[in-house]
Amino acid sequence: MNHFEFQTVPHIISQTGAANHVGQTIALHYPAARHVLLVTDAGFLKTGLMQAAIDNIRAQQIEVSVFSDVVADPPEAVVLAAASQAHILGIDLVVGFGGGSSMDVAKLIAILTGNEQELSSMYGIGNIKGQRLPLIQIPTTAGTGSEATPIAIVTTGETSKMGVVAPQLYADIAILDAQLTLGLPVAVSAATGIDAMVHAIEAFTTKHKKNPMSDMLAKQALQLLWNNIRTVCREPQNLAARQAMLLGAFLAGQSFANAPCAAVHALAYPIGGIFHVPHGLSNSLVLPAVLRFNASAAHPHYAELAAIIAPHEQGSSEAKSSALINALEQLTGELGIATRLQQVGIKESDLDKITTDAMLQTRLLGNNPREVTWQQARAIYAEVL
Ligand SMILES: NC(=O)c1ccc[n+]([C@@H]2O[C@H](COP(=O)([O-])OP(=O)(O)OC[C@H]3O[C@@H](n4cnc5c(N)ncnc54)[C@H](O)[C@@H]3O)[C@@H](O)[C@H]2O)c1
Ligand SMILES: [Fe+2]
Repeated sequence: MNHFEFQTVPHIISQTGAANHVGQTIALHYPAARHVLLVTDAGFLKTGLMQAAIDNIRAQQIEVSVFSDVVADPPEAVVLAAASQAHILGIDLVVGFGGGSSMDVAKLIAILTGNEQELSSMYGIGNIKGQRLPLIQIPTTAGTGSEATPIAIVTTGETSKMGVVAPQLYADIAILDAQLTLGLPVAVSAATGIDAMVHAIEAFTTKHKKNPMSDMLAKQALQLLWNNIRTVCREPQNLAARQAMLLGAFLAGQSFANAPCAAVHALAYPIGGIFHVPHGLSNSLVLPAVLRFNASAAHPHYAELAAIIAPHEQGSSEAKSSALINALEQLTGELGIATRLQQVGIKESDLDKITTDAMLQTRLLGNNPREVTWQQARAIYAEVL
């Protein structure tokens, strides 16, 4: 067996309603905390779902401020404004409360506050020097798994994104509370759920860092996500299915944090960056075509995952792998989300540009089970145009 390392969040609370008690959790584990910053976006703030948490923190005699200027695919300017606000307020604990965008910004606020290092020197892997403020993450989408990863993605230019990846970005506590996800629109539940499934699949087939811990988590994640994604779309108020999706997304996050994602994410990036398509949907659009491309190299691994998603197929490894890909393709159709690039405004004449952009994602492409050339990436996009 290859040597491996595995890191994760040390403290997980998976309990419906747990976010309402976050003040008690803070008081218990961080008795010195005096001023907490909740980081979210305006859309989630408007749901009112954060109020019980705010009241509970105040009830512990801890001051609360809210930063709600996060936007999807957060630009660098938002991160810097948030960190400067946190510094001025004298924040001593940060809570990310939202989807991947809010949690990513929360990570960077926690590291930038009271730290001399510039954000611009943190991009890449392992470039953070200092320590961060205590950090609690509370996801409100069951998708990115950001509450379990040491990654923060920032939009740096007009259309380009960069990642900060460093062990300091693992949260101290992750709270999984399905009550927060009850109001998610169906299209968001579907796309973010598929994002989480992609994390599990890409972790299980990653080229260099595949390891037994990530494999175990990826399989458990895929089982939970596959078994519940239709239910949360059909019955948005089903709390048990919502909690299962949150746990599935978290386990997938733990998995890919240690066995990184690959070509599905690489090809999804320019779709999100240039055309502002939500992260989960961008992944979903290219998923079946990338898996079909990878199958010649990855079919033994896909066949193992087919036992979860397409157990009826009992043929060869290739047949099981095809059954997995077909089942995933059928799922995206059933969930009613876009399945063709043209549905999100991408034209044939855009393909060269997005292909060139995708090829820049060398951090991700290097993990793919099969090498991808520019021509092959373009052919994948053309297949789903
Ligand atoms: N850090 C990581 O490991 C990691 C991994 C993958 C993606 N990402 C990043 O995460 C971001 C995408 O995150 P996301 O898909 O969770 O979406 P998001 O955080 O951008 O939120 C999407 C929308 O959903 C709304 N929303 C969130 N929770 C809601 C709720 N409970 N009820 C109603 N509306 C709600 C938000 O207001 C927002 O409008 C991207 O920036 C992506 O690059 C990070
Ligand atoms: Fe993702």
